[in-house]
Amino acid sequence: MKKILGMAAAGALLFALAGCTASGGASADGPKDTKDLVVGFAQVGAESGWRTANTKDIQSSFKEAGITLKFSDAQQKQENQIKAIRSYIQQKVDVIAFSPVVESGWDTVLKEAKNAGIPVVLTDRAVDSKDTSLYETFLGSDFVTEGKKAGEWALNEFKDASGTVPIIQLEGTTGSAPAIDRTKGFADAIAANPNLKIVASQTGDFTRSGGKQVMEALLKAHPDVKLLWAQNDDMGLGAIEAIEAAGKVPGKDIKIITADATHDGMQAAADGKINFIVECNPLMGKQLIEIVKKINKGEDVPKRIVTDETTFTSAQAKEALPSRKY
Ligand code: AHR
Repeated sequence: MKKILGMAAAGALLFALAGCTASGGASADGPKDTKDLVVGFAQVGAESGWRTANTKDIQSSFKEAGITLKFSDAQQKQENQIKAIRSYIQQKVDVIAFSPVVESGWDTVLKEAKNAGIPVVLTDRAVDSKDTSLYETFLGSDFVTEGKKAGEWALNEFKDASGTVPIIQLEGTTGSAPAIDRTKGFADAIAANPNLKIVASQTGDFTRSGGKQVMEALLKAHPDVKLLWAQNDDMGLGAIEAIEAAGKVPGKDIKIITADATHDGMQAAADGKINFIVECNPLMGKQLIEIVKKINKGEDVPKRIVTDETTFTSAQAKEALPSRKY
């Protein structure tokens, strides 16, 4: 018994020396003052209007809360995000938050953070690590549901179609959680009507230029396309340019669904060029701060926090546009 107690005491000492806590949160000296907290955030990049809104919201929320934020932009490259996370580990920040550009390949760096006793919060996008103890929580949208909402709109819109409805899908960044999950949600939903057929599905990397370029090529190969499902507003807006250049009317000759509901997307919907938008909410700053504060106090944080989201038809977009925050 004495021996067991002795081992436990030694273990506790080692644990304290490593600066760890049972929850990976508050240090052995207790919680820090909020103003002394330092958070390292590794952002994906600046590929879309959504991402710009997400960055602005995170930066302004931290400023308002008086918490130091170290911010890096990975320019859509996983190796840059890994470098940034390693640098935050070296700098011994209190919490690391990041939005993983792709789902796979994070275990090594996440283990490094865990071994250093630095809790990690995933924002916006998930990782596919089997070991979920490598991060505290994942705050973000349910992308499968977003894809499903897009597919359900398509089902209803084309419920009376007698023949094939050719669909073009513009996917987000290959290997990213939103691209994988939105593709799945959409496919699952449209499976209910075999007339709805995806004739082409290619990545536009979540960018406007990518959407335009891919749509130009796909329109030539599939001039009879009836529906475009662009997995974000920016790709949809780029595709609209390509559709107009090909002499077709977006929203009429080709129905269009996008995801995000950024200001530019909502404007295009209000103008009738986009028929339906599935919202993806980028305003996560305040929720992230609450999570950081809880971790600092050693309080429990739910493993998954899903952001609230809605959808917009053209008419709803017109009504919502004046009060849109991003
Ligand atoms: O991860 C969220 C997605 O990433 C948004 O839909 C897209 O616009 C962004 O680039």
